[in-house]
Amino acid sequence: MNIAVIGTGYVGLVSGVCFAELGNRVICVDKDTRKIDILNSGGIPIYEPGLKELSEANRAADRLAFTSDLPGAVRQSDIIILAVGTPPLPNGEANLSYIEEAALEIAEAMNGYKIIVVKSTVPVGTNERLSDLIRRRTKHLFDSVSLPEFLREGSAIKDSLQPDRIIIGVDSPLAADTMVELHKPLTEQIVVTDIRSAEMIKYASNAFLATKISFINEIANICEKVGADVTQVAEGMGYDKRIGPAYLKAGIGYGGSCFPKDTRALIQIAGHVDYDFKLLRSVVEVNQGQRFNVIRKLETIFGGELQGRTVAVWGLAFKPNTDDVRDSPALEIIQFLVENGVKVKAHDPVAMGNFQALFGKEGVEWCNDALETAQGADALCLLTEWEEFADVDLKQLQSVLNRPILIDGRNVFEEEDLLGTNFVYYSVGRPS
Ligand code: UGA
Repeated sequence: MNIAVIGTGYVGLVSGVCFAELGNRVICVDKDTRKIDILNSGGIPIYEPGLKELSEANRAADRLAFTSDLPGAVRQSDIIILAVGTPPLPNGEANLSYIEEAALEIAEAMNGYKIIVVKSTVPVGTNERLSDLIRRRTKHLFDSVSLPEFLREGSAIKDSLQPDRIIIGVDSPLAADTMVELHKPLTEQIVVTDIRSAEMIKYASNAFLATKISFINEIANICEKVGADVTQVAEGMGYDKRIGPAYLKAGIGYGGSCFPKDTRALIQIAGHVDYDFKLLRSVVEVNQGQRFNVIRKLETIFGGELQGRTVAVWGLAFKPNTDDVRDSPALEIIQFLVENGVKVKAHDPVAMGNFQALFGKEGVEWCNDALETAQGADALCLLTEWEEFADVDLKQLQSVLNRPILIDGRNVFEEEDLLGTNFVYYSVGRPS
């Protein structure tokens, strides 16, 4: 099939590359000519394991191209996939201006029947609104499809090529057949729904996963007080097939460009129809508080006096295997420490540049590796569970710290790892 993907962010780029890998001819489009130049010279503007190699292979096979020419790409394609960003507005609602602009450009470029697919996460009813916009600008026929995306950063290619399910929201049998055909090689679990339900499935899925995380984080907080171990509790719960083991890892709360944005957006969507989504509001509130767990532990250790201490921070990305720092808990934690007179030393294997771009370079001592970061610090906080940190020799780590205090925000270390050391060790929801 001939496919144009509009927007080369995470979702657009990975989907484009994966559709090409399935044997389709794909043109990825972005307004940002700098991005297109990077992609056309064999680079990848994001950090995603395996993406560069897959992109190169498909470019070499002449199945994948990158361009800023949206009208040209639309004219050559039968399926147009919209994957532009829908970042949050200050009130939490999704900003639809980029997707509306792209829809209008598509309408103006159309030269025959097209299937117009929305992969961006959009509030319920948006597909219909976009269809109306397009219909007013073109005489050509088209069908609309909502195709929500469920890939995770860091495992985006595996998630795209071996998805748990594909959701196709559609109101035309012709478009439904074409979309099923396109996705058949990926999975047998293809669910065809109406358009509004597909839009809702995306928000409901992310909100449910966020709920699981906030739930286990609250259980962890109680475990700390009653002397239970949340990892054992989660394992014991997870064997119940109705609960399942996934997304029950306690930590410092969820971050990233999706859960924080989509939970807030769903609260807004509900609010617009006069529904107070109380449960989800609590999920968001719990998540916000969980970030400060690390700080509360530091305050306890230092008797409430943070001023003048040196604290090392391992990990800035919102999770490992990505350079994404959007809504990363590290942003707020480091901000709080700096504002309270703490000297912060920090390191992340790949996300340091992105973190500095958001946070600024000032106020933090940026370090080249894990041990250099810990050197001379009064306490060490592990915020992202990169393998590099789990592999550090703890005896060596203890020898470079000023005080052997380790706050493990991701429960990376086990009791036996600490044998033979004098660490004062705090984790999340486990006996210290
Ligand atoms: C999430 C969803 O998992 C994807 O299905 C969805 O497509 C994507 O959002 C999106 O809407 O685009 P992602 O944000 O890449 O994917 O990351 P996750 O791996 O789901 O992790 C999100 C956050 O939850 C991270 O901060 C992670 O540390 C945290 N988390 C995850 C926990 O604290 N505990 C867990 O058990 C699992």
